[in-house]
Amino acid sequence: MDEPGVITDTGHIAVVRIFDTTLRDGEQSPGCSMTSAEKIDVARQLARLGVDIIEAGFPAASPDDLAAVQRIAKDIGAPDGPVICGLARCIAGDIDKAWDGVQAAAKPRIHTFISTSDIHLEHQFRMTRTQALERAVEMVTRAKGYCDDVEFSPMDAGRSDWEYVRDVLAAVIEAGATTLNIPDTVGYQMPDEYGAMMRWLIENTPGADTAIWSTHCHNDLGLAVANSLAGVKAGARQVEATVNGIGERAGNAALEEVVMALHTRKDFYDLRTNIDTTQIARTSRMVINYTGSYVQANKAVVGANAFAHESGIHQDGILKHKSTYEIMQPEDVGISQTELVLGKHSGRHALKVRLQEMGYEVNEEELQQIFKRFKELADKKKTVTDADLEALIADEFYGPEEIFSLDDIQVVCGRSGMPTATLRIIGPEGEEHVVAGIGTGPVDAAYSAIDKVVKAPVTLLEYRVNAITEGIDAQGEVTVRIRHDYNGHRRTFGGHGADTDIIVASAKAYMAALNRMLAYIGWKNHVPEGPAAAVQVSAMAMPWNNGQPAAEKEAEKEEADA
Ligand code: KIV
Ligand code: ZN
Repeated sequence: MDEPGVITDTGHIAVVRIFDTTLRDGEQSPGCSMTSAEKIDVARQLARLGVDIIEAGFPAASPDDLAAVQRIAKDIGAPDGPVICGLARCIAGDIDKAWDGVQAAAKPRIHTFISTSDIHLEHQFRMTRTQALERAVEMVTRAKGYCDDVEFSPMDAGRSDWEYVRDVLAAVIEAGATTLNIPDTVGYQMPDEYGAMMRWLIENTPGADTAIWSTHCHNDLGLAVANSLAGVKAGARQVEATVNGIGERAGNAALEEVVMALHTRKDFYDLRTNIDTTQIARTSRMVINYTGSYVQANKAVVGANAFAHESGIHQDGILKHKSTYEIMQPEDVGISQTELVLGKHSGRHALKVRLQEMGYEVNEEELQQIFKRFKELADKKKTVTDADLEALIADEFYGPEEIFSLDDIQVVCGRSGMPTATLRIIGPEGEEHVVAGIGTGPVDAAYSAIDKVVKAPVTLLEYRVNAITEGIDAQGEVTVRIRHDYNGHRRTFGGHGADTDIIVASAKAYMAALNRMLAYIGWKNHVPEGPAAAVQVSAMAMPWNNGQPAAEKEAEKEEADA
């Protein structure tokens, strides 16, 4: 195991491996569901970011999860790419499914876990300590039969007896575990305490030097990043984290914060990561757009105000010398300050060059799509900034599959009368729906018109509008989160839309969330064949009608009510 500050035999400063679990611990949290196609996009971006390991999912959770892990292993798990990891409980079937998921990767890993805290063993697993230890050894041995790279986690280690955790870890090292991950599952520990536990385990576990030690910290007390860094200081050389810190409850350690702390305070840690920090902003934005899970303006590293200087004294200092109040540069994390000096007369070539400078490699077809949107935007706005372009690309390419798409929208609103929205929506079979809705305001009216077409039982949980740039002609960016209740299951989905007209952006965001929800529940299997279904969406046999057309369902309900 490398020690902090030690120059390795290759002459380099020791590396902290970044293990990204956005697609597993992040995705399983409320409102962070992604479609398979979106997971592949995120995995591809994580590879660009330079993470060492991608935990692609929990293959035993569902056939969809298995399929997504398999695709990521096949498409992203190249020999020069990241390790692709699948999670498994200490259950034989889970280990087999995890292997099924990751085996196509050039560098596969199985990550298995069992609780070690008495609270979990007694009340949840109903196992003795001895039984849990034996199960851990048995399952690590099973995983080792499939692949060399096996990670083991003693879940709820933060509330476990250290000596028992040590015994379990010594036994799994002997069974072949190569990475030992120490989860503070409920975000209970303090940084000094977590660091001390990590150091004690490394010093007292037989065989400790044959494995990589890893942190896995949750943020219930807002300490996930601090605890992870304390673990690193104590000798951990892998950090498990998620983009924007998404995850169960208050989330996981935020990848971008851990990475920038190690990067900015190299003098303190004497360690490096393999992360290309200039990809951080883009990765963060992609995860926001796909999950609808916004980060607050003052969020470290990726928040809208992370590099904004408002007070006079600070601005004065920055103008004199950046280092007076700036410990990192926005460019370090990929936030460009440059304005695209292209107007509406600029050509495709200039746009392509700017996109390349921003790190986007687009093919001809994609360039054509972006160019069309760019021209429309340049007609409405004097200057198109990089932020505008990022939003435009996100809108064009980071959306879900369009089952229903917005073709046109017109709203009438004001202080007297009823806000009314008329929309033309193209349905799954290419059919056109022209609908009108009335609401308390133009957004409500637009949403009620969309509801008339899509007819999904959803609740709007969150609606957020944000200006992408300064100025009255700025593009508005809308994110929404909706909750879908179906057969006793509740799941939250996010959507994103950008436009100079915020009502259009709002409609796009809502439709994106609905499309993501429809894709998730595999709605296609429930749509009856034939032209009648195409023209009469209200007659669709959507899954929440138990496969019955809506009209029939309503009639049945009326009968029951009578
Ligand atoms: O928080 C946790 O304990 C986990 C384990 C599965 C590693 O996510
Ligand atoms: Zn976790």
